[in-house]
Amino acid sequence: MEAKNWKLYEDLESILYTEAQLKEAVAALGERITRDYQGKKPVMVCILKGASVFFCDLIRQIDLPVEIDFMVVSSYGNGTSSSGEVEIKKDLGRSVNGRDVIVVEDIVDSGNTLSYLKKVLDSRGVASLRICSLLDKPSRRRVPLTVDYSCFEIPDAFVVGYGLDYAELYRNLPDIGVLSPRIYADK
Ligand code: IMP
Ligand code: MG
Repeated sequence: MEAKNWKLYEDLESILYTEAQLKEAVAALGERITRDYQGKKPVMVCILKGASVFFCDLIRQIDLPVEIDFMVVSSYGNGTSSSGEVEIKKDLGRSVNGRDVIVVEDIVDSGNTLSYLKKVLDSRGVASLRICSLLDKPSRRRVPLTVDYSCFEIPDAFVVGYGLDYAELYRNLPDIGVLSPRIYADK
């Protein structure tokens, strides 16, 4: 499947993962989660907005009775690196006490966002808690955090597409690409 001939792609330096590669990786991950959670009814928590596209594709590859919920967590503002401060802007609409929870994120960078969220959810008495992130940038980690499920480990580059944004843009690209530094150079 070729990348679309869209004007938005002119802002990318390169394409890292095509729509077809993402589809294949998400399907494999869905099968893995299906196997690992046999006999369970996990609650899958989508971290908005970045994980939204991945989440919708992933849950449709899981053959289990899953429940879904959403959280909005702020970490970045409009820049390309984390402030280190995390705030829950929209919380879960349900109790997760005694439940098997899978937190679904777009990318783990410094680890700040998820290590904070992990503490919050652990304190709510979950039966188990696993982190599922489409992408993992381990070279950028500032706090220790284990990512239980991920599709790809990526180098230290700022990527957009398939839900990931720069200044709220590019989420609708079907592929994931490296954003041209000229887009954020003078910001
Ligand atoms: P962390 O708290 O530093 O791990 O940052 C996690 C959040 O930063 C993610 O949920 C993303 O919203 C954002 N982020 C980190 N790296 C990138 C990137 O390369 N592209 C787009 N967003 C990113
Ligand atoms: Mg973001």
